[in-house]
Amino acid sequence: MKKIILFADTGIDDTITLTYALKHPEIDLIGVVSGYGNIDREKTFRNVEYLLELAGRTDIPVIAGATRPLSGEDPVFFPEIHGIEGLGPIDPPIPEERYANRSNFSKLFDLIKKNRHEVIIVNVGRCTSLATAHYLSPEVMEDVKETYVMGGAFLEPGNATEVAEANFYGDPIAADYICQNVINLTLVPLDVTRDALLTPRVVNFIDKRSDAPLEEIIKPILDFYYEAYQQLEPGIPGSPLHDLAALMAALDIGGLYEYRKREVRVEDEGDLTYGESIADFRPGSGNCFGPKCTRIALDINQHVFVSNVLEILTNHR
Ligand code: RIB
Ligand code: CA
Repeated sequence: MKKIILFADTGIDDTITLTYALKHPEIDLIGVVSGYGNIDREKTFRNVEYLLELAGRTDIPVIAGATRPLSGEDPVFFPEIHGIEGLGPIDPPIPEERYANRSNFSKLFDLIKKNRHEVIIVNVGRCTSLATAHYLSPEVMEDVKETYVMGGAFLEPGNATEVAEANFYGDPIAADYICQNVINLTLVPLDVTRDALLTPRVVNFIDKRSDAPLEEIIKPILDFYYEAYQQLEPGIPGSPLHDLAALMAALDIGGLYEYRKREVRVEDEGDLTYGESIADFRPGSGNCFGPKCTRIALDINQHVFVSNVLEILTNHR
């Protein structure tokens, strides 16, 4: 079993990731850290509470993550893609006292200490909460086995700006810290997640086989997300499941990705380059070695992606 802690900014693709994790027979989801990103921290926290309630898994601890980037600036949210509440058309019926004013970050360190060298962190939102965990307790974070991050765009345009991907753009200081300091790090950037598509046909197929409350929200939220993407990228054949693509990297699925190893920096200055992820892919450059080298997924096999998602989301676990 893979013991996973998911760091999310629980919007739509984060929600599908959480659903997949709960349904996967080889994943033991031991905690969720929910921070600002697609929407504010209170709402992402509430959304996780709601999703775990739908799944009957309120035993999984939810930890309140960061509320703003390390620069101290106000975060920019994306209601046009994820909806005002972060779940497309759904307004989760969770009372405010269940999610307001939470502060339980030390729970994260307890989970890692209890599962030394076994925990895999999958970060699918801004990197602020993860960087904060490393700043607060580097000795505990050394006991994390592997870290996977959805972020960056290398040989591909950005989505937040011409050159920057949204998670790195949201907090480039934190993203750069993670890329420079976290060992056993794998990045899953837009280069592959933009092609991690689920078409409406596949979504309808999953919906027909859904038989549990958590599965029944897959279609309404992905229909909303698909419409949002049609505005952003007219003609795109499906919805990019960025965050799910990052989680799947942690599962060693044969043939899903091809990787290169490079040292990665993230730019935190410049009007044009803010949030840009940079690695050396010039002709003649090769894989690097050493603690600052990050594994980067650069090619995806879309057929392997879709078959695996179908297998997991339509099983009746
Ligand atoms: O760029 C895509 C990423 O930004 C995804 O994690 C999405 O959920 C948003 O956080
Ligand atoms: Ca996300």
